[in-house]
Amino acid sequence: MSQPTNEEIFARWRTQPAPLLPVLHALHERDGYLGEQALRDVSRALRLPLADLFGTVTFYHFFRREPPHGEGLRVCTGPVCCLAGGEELLEALAADGARPMPCAGRCDEPVPVLDDRRVRTGTAPDALAARPSPLPAPNPGGCAECVFEGIREPGRAGIDGYRAGGGYAALRRAVEELDPGEVIQLVTDSGLAGRGGAGFPTGVKWRAVADAPGTPKTIVCNADEGEPGCFKDRALLDHDPHAVIEGMLLAAFATGATRGFIYLRYEYPETAGVLERAIDEAIRAGILGDDVLGSGRAFALHVRRGAGAYICGEEGSLLNSLEGKHPFPRNRPPFPVTHGYENLPTVVNNVETLASVPPIIRHGPEWYRGLGRNGEAGTKVISLSGDIQRPGNYEVPMGLSLKTLLHEWAGGPAAGRTIQAVTMAGLSGGFLAGDDLDVTLDEPSIRSRGSFLGAGGIMVFDDSRDMVAAADGAMAFFAHESCGKCFPCRIGTQRLTERLRGEAGPAELAAWLDEVRDLGGVMKSMSACGLGIAAPLITDSLVKHFPDQVERHVRQGATRR
Ligand SMILES: Cc1cc2nc3c(=O)[nH]c(=O)nc-3n(C[C@H](O)[C@H](O)[C@H](O)COP(=O)(O)O)c2cc1C
Ligand code: SF4
Repeated sequence: MSQPTNEEIFARWRTQPAPLLPVLHALHERDGYLGEQALRDVSRALRLPLADLFGTVTFYHFFRREPPHGEGLRVCTGPVCCLAGGEELLEALAADGARPMPCAGRCDEPVPVLDDRRVRTGTAPDALAARPSPLPAPNPGGCAECVFEGIREPGRAGIDGYRAGGGYAALRRAVEELDPGEVIQLVTDSGLAGRGGAGFPTGVKWRAVADAPGTPKTIVCNADEGEPGCFKDRALLDHDPHAVIEGMLLAAFATGATRGFIYLRYEYPETAGVLERAIDEAIRAGILGDDVLGSGRAFALHVRRGAGAYICGEEGSLLNSLEGKHPFPRNRPPFPVTHGYENLPTVVNNVETLASVPPIIRHGPEWYRGLGRNGEAGTKVISLSGDIQRPGNYEVPMGLSLKTLLHEWAGGPAAGRTIQAVTMAGLSGGFLAGDDLDVTLDEPSIRSRGSFLGAGGIMVFDDSRDMVAAADGAMAFFAHESCGKCFPCRIGTQRLTERLRGEAGPAELAAWLDEVRDLGGVMKSMSACGLGIAAPLITDSLVKHFPDQVERHVRQGATRR
């Protein structure tokens, strides 16, 4: 098949919304890299200043500026893949030009190896194979589920299978029986809060967008899922894409939005195909398009793939990325609800948040509230990985005890081992250990221990692991992914990494601790977004739970230097 010319690529995308990323991906896929002339042509075709375009393109980790050596493989060396032999696999594939990549969202099936079009997983070169996302195992606690309620039904990823399980009934009910304000009220009454990390009440967000002046309004599904240890959104999108589309359509109905984007992380190439197929099916069924289910309302939905930058999950950065700008987080206020995509009112919601809405409209807000425990509303999908016998995605009642999940649902650590620590919120919540493992899985309980549940990634470290090395890997990730917009985060993450690596810092323990606390304190109070605010939780929790390991590390570092 002949390759498209630059002009054909530009002609296809120039009239579409958010064209920069798809144009860059098309050129990159064709040539294997983004050469200078190609970028000059993009600059002309999309009327973007060349210097800005160079700055933006070089910010994304996955855009090569030179032809690749070999297959251009990327091997995950994230925290869980390191435990499972990621570094060794990288070394084994080095002759083929393989390079490391941060956590690629396959912690349930380490180790992922990505080329430009697909992901294979395995722990040795000859064991690499393309494997579909594992379906979540049936809930061992027998607890009622919300987003996983129908996910295991056969054919669920197709529109017929989805409809057979009651899919799109909530949207039909909304357009035929409810007004937008009633939909917002149902979501508000359910107590649903954002599942992407910040936990903002979804109904309040939708109300703000519905009330904000300015059109067209936009719904953005945040499927960037870059947090190490999180892989729930991939499972939802791969096995239940129509639930996410229906959630977006309900958000559009409630707020008056007429266009939407699914911003998908680059490392999920197969998921892009699943979504395109589901969108085509929904258009053919009259569910997406100019006349949603005969309601006279229009909604156009587009998939846009990121290019490998963790910060693009932060909503301001994501919106800048969609708009073809340098993906720095935006200063707030104003917030996306009034000044989002193209400075117009925009809902940004996580995949899990949106997938929760159709069951809430179908079963009612009381049903959803009642799924939680101890006064907490609803459920949360936890991505569990690391030193645990049954890793995977578990939809738990909010308020379930962490230990019940770890030991009763997921089989505990390997025989003869004990759990030394777990991470919270992927990496962003730092470590919990000792008595702090007695938490329940809800924000009030986890925040009372100085951490947070966030997007619900939990990595387990057994008693054989070096926790300073684990903290070093985590801080190095934040240093690599800091966008550099503000210096406390840009420099602080580097300085903390050097101290955790034993490359710098005082040789005396008290001075080392003071310095690390001071660096973290400045980052928490002065950083412009959640990355720089959360990163010091790694060092805070390391020092709190593992003073002996820290003392040994400082002593050894002093001897080495
Ligand atoms: C550094 C950083 C990375 C983030 N990454 C994601 C992400 O990958 N997916 C996501 O849904 N939210 C992410 N968020 C949170 C978003 O900014 C935003 O709060 C969320 O998408 C809102 O959706 P929700 O209300 O449904 O949770 C991130 C935030 C920060 C500070
Ligand atoms: S805190 Fe870090 S990631 Fe966030 S804007 Fe500042 S430099 Fe960028």
